[in-house]
Amino acid sequence: MNINNIIFWLWLLLPYLMLASSSSFCNHHDTSALLLFKNSFTLNTSLHYDYFWLSYSSKTESWKNGTDCCEWDGVTCDTISGHVIGLDLSCSYLQGQLHPNSTIFSLRHLQQLDLSYNDFSGSSLYSAIGDLVNLMHLNLSYSQISGDIPSTISHLSKLRSLHLGDDQSMMRVYPYTWKKLIQNATNLRVLDLVDVDMSSIGDSSLSLLTNLSSSLISLSLFDTKLQGNLSSDILSLPNLQILFLSFNKDLGGELPKSNWSTPLRLLDLTFTAFSGNIPDSIGHLKSLKELYMGSCNFDGLIPSSLFNLTQLSGIDLSINKLVGPIPSSLFNLTQLSGIDLSINKLVGPIPYWFYSLPSLLDLDLSNNHLTGSIGEFSSYSLKYLSLSNNKLQGNFPNSIFELQNLTDLSLSSTDLSGHLDFHQFSKLKNLNYLELSHNSFLSINFDSIADYFLSPNLEYLNLSSCNINSFPKFIAPLQNLIRLDVSHNNIRGSIPQWFHEKLLHSWNNITHIDLSFNKLQGDLPIPPNGIRYFLVSNNELTGNIPSAICNASSLYILNLAHNNLTGQILQCLATFPSLLALDLQMNNLYGNIPANFSKGNALETIKLNGNQLDGPLPWSLAHCTNLEVLDLADNNIKDTFPHWLESLQELQVLSLRSNKFHGVITCFGAKHPFLRLRIFDVSNNNFSGSLPASYIKNFRGMMSVNDNQTGSKYMGNQYFYNDSVVVVMKGQYMELERILTIFTTIDLSNNMFEGELLKVLGELHSLKGLNLSHNAITGTIPRSFGNLRNLEWLDLSWNQLKGEIPVSLINLNFLAVLNLSQNQFEGIIPTGGQFNTFGNDSYAGNPMLCGFPLSKSCNKDEDWSPHSTFHLEESGFGWKAVAVGYACGFLFGMLLGYNAFMTGKPQWLARLVEGVLN
Ligand SMILES: *[C@@H]1O[C@H](CO)[C@@H](O)[C@H](O)[C@H]1NC(C)=O
Ligand SMILES: *[C@@H]1O[C@H](CO)[C@@H](O)[C@H](O)[C@H]1NC(C)=O
Ligand SMILES: *[C@@H]1O[C@H](CO)[C@@H](O)[C@H](O)[C@H]1NC(C)=O
Ligand SMILES: *[C@@H]1O[C@H](CO)[C@@H](O)[C@H](O)[C@H]1NC(C)=O
Ligand SMILES: *[C@@H]1O[C@H](CO)[C@@H](O)[C@H](O)[C@H]1NC(C)=O
Ligand SMILES: *[C@@H]1O[C@H](CO)[C@@H](O)[C@H](O)[C@H]1NC(C)=O
Ligand SMILES: *[C@@H]1O[C@H](CO)[C@@H](O)[C@H](O)[C@H]1NC(C)=O
Repeated sequence: MNINNIIFWLWLLLPYLMLASSSSFCNHHDTSALLLFKNSFTLNTSLHYDYFWLSYSSKTESWKNGTDCCEWDGVTCDTISGHVIGLDLSCSYLQGQLHPNSTIFSLRHLQQLDLSYNDFSGSSLYSAIGDLVNLMHLNLSYSQISGDIPSTISHLSKLRSLHLGDDQSMMRVYPYTWKKLIQNATNLRVLDLVDVDMSSIGDSSLSLLTNLSSSLISLSLFDTKLQGNLSSDILSLPNLQILFLSFNKDLGGELPKSNWSTPLRLLDLTFTAFSGNIPDSIGHLKSLKELYMGSCNFDGLIPSSLFNLTQLSGIDLSINKLVGPIPSSLFNLTQLSGIDLSINKLVGPIPYWFYSLPSLLDLDLSNNHLTGSIGEFSSYSLKYLSLSNNKLQGNFPNSIFELQNLTDLSLSSTDLSGHLDFHQFSKLKNLNYLELSHNSFLSINFDSIADYFLSPNLEYLNLSSCNINSFPKFIAPLQNLIRLDVSHNNIRGSIPQWFHEKLLHSWNNITHIDLSFNKLQGDLPIPPNGIRYFLVSNNELTGNIPSAICNASSLYILNLAHNNLTGQILQCLATFPSLLALDLQMNNLYGNIPANFSKGNALETIKLNGNQLDGPLPWSLAHCTNLEVLDLADNNIKDTFPHWLESLQELQVLSLRSNKFHGVITCFGAKHPFLRLRIFDVSNNNFSGSLPASYIKNFRGMMSVNDNQTGSKYMGNQYFYNDSVVVVMKGQYMELERILTIFTTIDLSNNMFEGELLKVLGELHSLKGLNLSHNAITGTIPRSFGNLRNLEWLDLSWNQLKGEIPVSLINLNFLAVLNLSQNQFEGIIPTGGQFNTFGNDSYAGNPMLCGFPLSKSCNKDEDWSPHSTFHLEESGFGWKAVAVGYACGFLFGMLLGYNAFMTGKPQWLARLVEGVLN
């Protein structure tokens, strides 16, 4: 640069240099206002929002009395007047209260104010904010300000950008303020309200945003509790580039069929109630880069025009009701880094264009109905690939092993077949997550051709139902394991010593071990401290539960069920603070149930059934206030009814079946005893006295019928542990693998209950099964039983009930099994409805009953005789021979027919014969 040039430039810059020097001193009023503002806060350098793009610094440390405030960090002055016009104190560690009299509100020349990412908790936004009428940019987000947005905010008519709200404290805006603001701040370009409560802003107030059509370019209303329907006009605002409406689950709306905001670059409707089709016209959004519409209610097809948007880099349409095929024409989305179409109802093959997308990093097509084979990849950029839960067929694609950057691979529950050598996965050096569970047609060879090492980064390994036959050696070198699932395989023999040692000493990060449903023998491995899920059920493990298990107090789920474990239950298991499920059922454990369940424990499920536990029940079980399932069936527990459990408000399943409980069941006095109980099984004990009326009339959980059964839920903690319980259902022992929350039964059978049937039983409208058999119950069946509309089985056999069978029972449209045998019922059996389907054995041993299906007609003239039943029996000589034999007194005839009696229909006769034989 020569000297002439320099002079030329100096000459050009001269006015600016002069101005700068002439106004080097900040306005005095502003200086002291800033200093007082600074002094009203302390610096808390531990304040931190963990976002990588934030950079924190203590800006106000440079603010010193006597220096030029225009030089201070975060302060901008007007070069002519020296007034402070900009203040940026974002991420400045400020902590303290913002007061209504704060000097900040006296900086009337401020055009820009940013106090975001500080801690003003306990403060509100005060009316004085309306005094800063020159503000063009205001950002108070993530500063923990709460309370109502003052109406004076509408005085800020020059606003161009406004950011308010915080995920840790709640601000609110009311319609009056909202309307004034939108009507006055007509230049607003960016409006960003995070977690601000907008629940009172109705559809029409929200539509006012269309007044900002010429200015608004970015609208973010994230998690603002908006309700109702968003006018599609918002999506037509001509200048809108960014629209975030995510996490407003009650905000509905539809996408416009035409007139889209064509400049849109980002559209985020995640977790809203938006519904309807995705119109073809979405293909007009030529600038669209990111489209997030997961967890909405969209249905219909995915328009092919969507994949024609060449700028697209991310698409999330997961968890909707989209159907049909994925458009298959060749798309060349060179920018695309992520695509998630999981959890829809998509059919057809995976289009070939997916395999060649040059910059694709994440692909999730899991949980659809996709068919066809997985093609070979010709682009290798993928890091995350999930195709789980589809009907994909054919061979395992070899090109997957070329995906060098792959960290997550999920291919469970497919219909892939053929042969796969597991050691190939050692080629994927970055693999962190490998899920191959439930591929029953795929034959995976786990034997090593030579020693191979899986990626040392592997943390999650899920190989459930993969036909593994021996204990997998390849897991030994994996240092960083967090989760290991080799359940539902055929692993035999004892667990190798190295596994016991790794578990205790090397795998410091492990939280989840699932070895259940194998044929493992020998000692129980000891779960280490830090573990959350330890599932080894359904093996052949023996020995005691070692006391070292007491170190694993971090456990959430402990499932040792269905083994051959013996010894006593360790007391420490009742003290783990986070334990949700303790399942020790079906072992050989004996002794007492731990007596020290601690207050405030987390237990939701306790299953100790099928052991040899005895002793009384510990009262400390009443500390399990979250308890939903308590199954103590099939033990030797000798006690009276644990009425002190009646205050457990979450208890849904209580099974004391087949123990030595005795005494009368009466209420202890809780206001709402057993409020939520749905399965109540005390069968096969020695309970006596009348039926527990005080409880039954409080079984609210069995009274309300949720007709909307599409909402049926299963009990259990996430998918790692499913509650199951054994009940006698329709006369058969059944293990309900997962307990449907609509499943309700009462079983009081095989006790010594006496007294009459209770009318109130008829109010348990959602009851599916009722078994009162083998007691000494007297009286008649109340007509109210006709109200048990959901009843599927009813067993009142072996009691002393009498009277007629109420006709109201024909209302029970789902009744599949009825057993009234061995009572003293009389009169006509009702006809119609399900009663046309029951056989003789439903009524056996009630000699005074008559009518279909019994052979005894109700015509008084025609008396019962063995002969009159002959022509009704359809097959075999069996019971005819016996009847003849009985009639003739030939023992020969009886023996021949005995077996037939036990299965054949006329059980009244069987009983007669048994009586004779014994
Ligand atoms: C700044 O210093 C001046 C003179 O030293 C003093 O009068 C004034 O009170 C100080 N202001 C503040 C806010 O400390
Ligand atoms: C502002 O008000 C608070 C309490 O409301 C008081 O403690 C504080 O001294 C006042 N500050 C000024 C600068 O007046
Ligand atoms: C609109 O803004 C102007 C200018 O700040 C102000 O004078 C007026 O009061 C505001 N109107 C409302 C309704 O807030
Ligand atoms: C994709 O865009 C091209 C040109 O912009 C157009 O010719 C073609 O019809 C579009 N395809 C789809 C499926 O919308
Ligand atoms: C995809 O587009 C890129 C650049 O836009 C081009 O280089 C490439 O050849 C295209 N690929 C196909 C298969 O059309
Ligand atoms: C794998 O990742 C590295 C580092 O990010 C990158 O340089 C490389 O291009 C990627 N490989 C492929 C095939 O995309
Ligand atoms: C466990 O996790 C920590 C932190 O995530 C990590 O630094 C460490 O390498 C992991 N592995 C082991 C064996 O501790």
